[in-house]
Amino acid sequence: MAHHPDRIVREAAEALGARRNAVALTGAGISVESGIPAFRGAQGMWEKYDPMEYATIGAFLKDPARVWTMLSEMVDVFSRAAPNPAHLGLADMEKMGVLRSVITQNVDGLHQAAGSRKVIEFHGNTEELVCLACFRRYPSRERIREGIPPKCECGKILKPNLVLFGEKVPWVTQEEAEAEAENCAALLVIGTSAQVTPACDIPLISRRKGAVIIEINPEETFLTRTITDLHIRESASVAVSRLLEEIREILPPS
Ligand code: OAD
Repeated sequence: MAHHPDRIVREAAEALGARRNAVALTGAGISVESGIPAFRGAQGMWEKYDPMEYATIGAFLKDPARVWTMLSEMVDVFSRAAPNPAHLGLADMEKMGVLRSVITQNVDGLHQAAGSRKVIEFHGNTEELVCLACFRRYPSRERIREGIPPKCECGKILKPNLVLFGEKVPWVTQEEAEAEAENCAALLVIGTSAQVTPACDIPLISRRKGAVIIEINPEETFLTRTITDLHIRESASVAVSRLLEEIREILPPS
C-alpha cells in the first residue's frame, strides 16, 4: 500500500515521540549536506580511491604513505565541514529525551560538533593517531601539522584510530552498539547504504527486538524493502527537520 509522504513522517514522529526511546544509526549520507562526499555512488570517495588500495589494513601496512593521500584529503575536508540541520536535529532530539544515542559509521566528528552527547563511533575517528609498531598515541592535529604522512617518534608512519577494511570493530564498541540496538523502541537509520558489516546488522538486531525501523534516505537501500517500516525518501536535513516539527507538536512543551 502506498503511503502519502506526510503520513509517513507523521507515523515516524509518533513512533519517536510517543515511545521516547529511539537510537539513530547514521552513515556517510548524513554528512553529504555538510560537503563531505559519501563513499558509494557517482560522487563517492570510492570512485576516486579504490578501497582495496586505500582503505584496507593490508594496504596501510604495505604502503602507509599512499593511504595517507586519501586520508589527508579526508581530514582536510572534515576540517572545513560544519554540522548540518540533520546532525543538529539529532542533538535536539537527544535533549528532548526522544533519542538516547547515535551510533555512527562516520569518522568526521560532526555529531559531537552538533552537540550530541552519546555518540558511539562504530568506525572510530580521525582525532587520534596510533603507532602500529610501538602503540604510542598522538592527537592528530599536532602530528599532521608536522607533515603528511604523520610519523611517530619511533619513525613509523602513524595510523588514524579508525577501522579500515580487514580490521575489527573494537569489541567494546560492538557490545555498546548492540546493547543500544537491542533496547530501543525505534531505530532511525539515516544516510547509510547498509552494505558494510557488522554495522548493517544493527537494524536487524533492533527489528528482532520489535523496534520500528525508520529509514531516511533519498534512495532505496538493502533495508528498504526488507526490514524498514517507514521510509522517508528525503535528504537527511529535510527529513530530520520535518520529523522534529512533528515531534514538537506531539510532545507537551517542557
Ligand atoms: P555509503 O556511501 O555506502 O552510503 C551513503 C548513503 O547515503 C546512500 O544510501 C545514499 O543514498 C545516502 N545519501 C546520499 N545523500 C544523502 C542525503 N543528503 N541525505 C541522506 N542520505 C543520503 O556510506 P555508508 O553506508 O556510511 O567504512 O558506508 C558505510 C561504510 O563503508 C563507511 O563507514 C566506510 C565505508 O567504506 C569503512 O571505511 C570501514
